[in-house]
Amino acid sequence: MKSLYTFLLIMLIYPLEGREDQTGQMASQQLNLMPMPAELTPGEGRFPLGEDFTIRVSGPASDRAYGGATRMLRRLSGRTGLFFSQDFIGPEDTSSSAPLELKWSRVGQVELGENESYTLAVAADHITLSAETDIGILRGLETLLQLLVAGREGYHFPAFRIEDTPRFAWRGLLIDVCRHFMPVDVIKRNLDGMAAVKLNVLHWHLSENQGFRVESKTYPKLHQLGSDGFYYTQEQIKDVLAYADARGIRVMPEFDMPGHATSWLVGYPELGSAPGPYTIERKFGIFDPTMDPTRETTYTFLDAFFKEMSDLFPDRYMHIGGDEVEGSQWEANADIHAFMRKHQLSDNEALQSYFNQRILKILTKYDRKLIGWDEIFHPSMPTNIVIHSWRGQKALGEAASQGYQGILSNGYYIDLIQPTDFHYLNDPIPPGSELTSEAQANILGGEATMWAEFITPETIDSRIWPRLAAIAERLWSPIDVRDVGDMYRRLDVISFQLEELGLMHEKNYPMMLRRLTNNTDIEPLKVLVDVIEPVKYYNRPMQREYTSYSPMTRTVDAARPDAKVARNFRRLVDEYLNERKERPATGRRFLGFGRKGRSEHADEMITWLELWQANHARLKVTIDQSPVLDEIETLSADLASCATIGLEALKYLEEGKKASPRWVEGKRNVIKAARKPRGQAELMVTPAIDALVQAAGGVLPE
Ligand code: ACM
Repeated sequence: MKSLYTFLLIMLIYPLEGREDQTGQMASQQLNLMPMPAELTPGEGRFPLGEDFTIRVSGPASDRAYGGATRMLRRLSGRTGLFFSQDFIGPEDTSSSAPLELKWSRVGQVELGENESYTLAVAADHITLSAETDIGILRGLETLLQLLVAGREGYHFPAFRIEDTPRFAWRGLLIDVCRHFMPVDVIKRNLDGMAAVKLNVLHWHLSENQGFRVESKTYPKLHQLGSDGFYYTQEQIKDVLAYADARGIRVMPEFDMPGHATSWLVGYPELGSAPGPYTIERKFGIFDPTMDPTRETTYTFLDAFFKEMSDLFPDRYMHIGGDEVEGSQWEANADIHAFMRKHQLSDNEALQSYFNQRILKILTKYDRKLIGWDEIFHPSMPTNIVIHSWRGQKALGEAASQGYQGILSNGYYIDLIQPTDFHYLNDPIPPGSELTSEAQANILGGEATMWAEFITPETIDSRIWPRLAAIAERLWSPIDVRDVGDMYRRLDVISFQLEELGLMHEKNYPMMLRRLTNNTDIEPLKVLVDVIEPVKYYNRPMQREYTSYSPMTRTVDAARPDAKVARNFRRLVDEYLNERKERPATGRRFLGFGRKGRSEHADEMITWLELWQANHARLKVTIDQSPVLDEIETLSADLASCATIGLEALKYLEEGKKASPRWVEGKRNVIKAARKPRGQAELMVTPAIDALVQAAGGVLPE
């Protein structure tokens, strides 16, 4: 509760965004921190940022801290255009006149449970960032960067004391580099984004039916025959590991087995439960190629493989997947049946569990902990494995209650294109959880999952960002930081700051629109795409068949999750209708009398609706020259029709007249038809316009 209290206190003290206070100074802007720190106490005054700004260090030698401080200084310089005199920060930077002091007492280990806490004290003439570990220093530097405020008098940091510590120790992002390969620079820029929002685990999904993405010196046919040439060399892996370590981020590899394993079997068919031959899978879904858990040679192979990978990846956790074992190869194999009878394995789950126990022995030998998806949870497994739940809090809670540690990904499947607030309110331990404190302690945190069926290096960032920042807040900040409106307000700011790290979620958008319009005017297309989203859940592959070489450059790919313009329009409509509930219509004249006298909300809605109404005629010119846009022509026409309906509904509302039931029904049918996806994309403004139509008929939302 303390954090909520301090948060409210700050809102009382700093309620005015960019407004002059009585002493003529700019009142500090609202805080744009994400994740919100555990405890914040406002101080007196502000620390003005000038070109004399320097950093001093105090702590045992740490390239992690020096590198983090140097990067922070360059980002600060990049944001402000200030020419700082300090170049690279190192152990010699101890001058007592440097206003920012970084103090740590030991070099941290990038491992689960390491101390990431920090204290940041900003006063008018100096700033102190102190932490037990250099990893805490990195976390605090990101907070300091987010505190920067621009005003008429220049840049400053408002005075604050921040005591911060994460709620969960495991805060991750899974990147699937198998369905579509992601080059090293994609991984690195996303590691920078993760560090900016204090995430600490990259879960690298490295093997799948569609590709085996790591060079293996022990079994070279894995990457040579299983990857189409798209794999990371071991040197590249080490480079990424060092990059992540410098940012205080663990890298946990996943090698999915015994299912999801086609790419292994291309080079080594003897691992499979059917003779083969096998080819790399081009489609998406669940496939039958499965490792044979009954042959000793399978374990000899995996033993040598895990030895090699344990030498390569330092993280203590090895993810073995284990999800969605399809089973038909096992069922068709008489030797496997005989083995199951002999070992009294009653079903496929028992056989998989036998396999997992063998793998557990191997991993234990290499000092690795076994983690896998829900399916590895079986009564015969010991409790020293970690359950990664894609099924949900209930499954996770059951495992935790039986003594298994676990992490949550259900509700964080960012590939399913759900809105940010859905993910934000999804909690590994929801408020009011009935789990015992012992069971709660077994829930280590969560991971967002970026599955890669429908992404390429060009679009991956827009599927991860900015939504991941809100998930990062859920996993770092106190449980009571849950205000959706404030989250969205801060998210806008954080999203644009993330661009300075090279993330492409914003800048690739106009580039993709240029390609779609054949480099003509993108504005009409942007007006449409700003209010559409890709279809959700698993609808995209249900509406048409995709392969790993299908184009990912269509309108649906340019469209972003949680379309901001549509979301803001919905909020405008909600606020307008709520206001009417409290203060019924005045009956003022609507059209033809200028805009004075109407509410600001009505004015703003009309501006949007008129833009959408007129847009189809403009966009049609572009569509006629760009056949790739044919598939969204009717979507564009429907946006115009719905906008016209919205204007008509507003006219009723503003004139204080009630629309007939017949009118309401007719218009609602048009809106309903407009909801139908086209080109796997859907219009997101229809619910708001539908609410206006219903209100025109006298039915206000609950
Ligand atoms: C999964 O989504 N099959 C882990």
